[in-house]
Amino acid sequence: MKAEIVVDFHLPLRLHMAESKDLTRRDAVKVAGAASLAAVAAPVLEGAPAIIKARAATNAVKYGMVGTGSRGNYLLKHLKGIDTGTCVAICDITDDAMDKAVQTIGGKPKRYKDWRELLADKEVEAVFVTTPLFLHFPVTKDALEAGKHVFCEKSMVFKAEEVHALRALAHARPKQTLQVGLQRRYSGMYQAARQMIEKGLLGEITYVQAQWHRNPGWKMKKDVPNPRMANWRLFREYSGGLVAELASHQIDVADWMLGMTPESVMGLGTRDFMHDGRDIYDNVQLIYKYPKGRRLVWTGISNSSHWAGVGGARTEMGEMIMGTQGTVHITIGDDNNKPIGMWFREPAPPAQVTDAKKAGEKKEAYKAGATMVAAAGSRPLPILMNKDLMTGKESFLEKEMKYARLWLYQKGILVPEEEKNPVDIELESFFNDCRTGGRPRADLEVGLQDSIAVILSNLAMDEGRPVAFSEIEKLGKPGAAPAKPAMRRG
Ligand SMILES: NC(=O)c1ccc[n+]([C@@H]2O[C@H](COP(=O)([O-])OP(=O)(O)OC[C@H]3O[C@@H](n4cnc5c(N)ncnc54)[C@H](O)[C@@H]3O)[C@@H](O)[C@H]2O)c1
Repeated sequence: MKAEIVVDFHLPLRLHMAESKDLTRRDAVKVAGAASLAAVAAPVLEGAPAIIKARAATNAVKYGMVGTGSRGNYLLKHLKGIDTGTCVAICDITDDAMDKAVQTIGGKPKRYKDWRELLADKEVEAVFVTTPLFLHFPVTKDALEAGKHVFCEKSMVFKAEEVHALRALAHARPKQTLQVGLQRRYSGMYQAARQMIEKGLLGEITYVQAQWHRNPGWKMKKDVPNPRMANWRLFREYSGGLVAELASHQIDVADWMLGMTPESVMGLGTRDFMHDGRDIYDNVQLIYKYPKGRRLVWTGISNSSHWAGVGGARTEMGEMIMGTQGTVHITIGDDNNKPIGMWFREPAPPAQVTDAKKAGEKKEAYKAGATMVAAAGSRPLPILMNKDLMTGKESFLEKEMKYARLWLYQKGILVPEEEKNPVDIELESFFNDCRTGGRPRADLEVGLQDSIAVILSNLAMDEGRPVAFSEIEKLGKPGAAPAKPAMRRG
């Protein structure tokens, strides 16, 4: 819902007086204050585009895109609005995909059918790799060797040997920017959650529960010229399945929020519902063991899209980040749905029972094995964005507007919205880093750790055993035993 609602600026005050149980004005200030701790990164984020814009006219990064399919076109739609980059070349194996790309971005980019020709084009400074996963590494490798900056979609690489090879290659070329398309890293909402954790508002984070459930899952495209390539996601020859395409975003969120990477993974992957010739799993449950007893549990199913987070207000995907003092429910948005973040405080421990009779009754109930009802949960508080925070410099009217907005958030009538789609921020940030040599938030190691998790998760499911993350040190290196053939469950 957009903020075009007609707001009565004095409403919060009047409601505060009428509804004492609701968020009071004082509570609202507390929330704003707590969340202001969480917004430390925002000015940096918001400052960057302005700096870029000042230089844009003369120094736009000239880029090419390899793979102008669905994601490529989505990025081009956003790139069209960013004047710090100029599309000078595109590459795809189909004319149809390139025609669509030209319609989206406009202008007259040069067209290539072979990425090597695009990379030989001296005008191209940076390359977007938006091909199917199995081509990420070959294109990225050639692009880095051709001296280009690279934005590679997630998940960064496909095979264990590519993890080691890309690390070595990127380290040898420190002046070239290499960014991975994990856009949650560029979301103000996710950054606010991370800052809340750093400031201790959620206590010790011990558990992350994440899901990406669809109903139905991916369908097999029929009657297309090159069916295997058009359906590349569904075949292991090209794809890492649900884990690479969906879980990769959320494993990265767990790593980021927990501030560590997993020690091992175990999981169950089967193909139970989609019998159309695909060979990837359609039913996946994974448990990641992190140091110090931390866990991530990820599930990916294809026959229900319900998500219990944010009060069931959104479907499909999201993460619940649970700490000893609170929990955050969070999910990313897209062009139609804005990100939502909600903060639940852990209830206070039950009050001590002083009445001897009541205490006795309680003890009896425990003895009888009765299930005691837990303490009531807290009302969720929205995770606030920078524009919602009190700076102390507001005019009377601005202050009242902020309180009003807060009240509407608290009532669930409005949700705090990011000022920019994280995809715009990741793209602007990429061009900025190409020019300044800055380090991307979603950099090489973020991308590689994410890919390692994807590769080892699939291995754990294929071989039906827990897989230690240390195995990556041997996998894909000379002398390593070849991976066993997949167990093909289901
Ligand atoms: N960050 C995100 O949220 C997000 C979302 C969607 C997709 N993606 C990623 O983007 C990538 C592309 O996915 P998609 O949905 O666009 O797939 P897609 O099938 O729609 O597009 C892939 C394109 O690559 C082209 N292609 C294939 N072989 C090629 C080659 N040798 N040279 C040049 N082009 C070639 C295909 O013709 C197609 O147009 C995947 O890695 C996917 O995981 C990321």
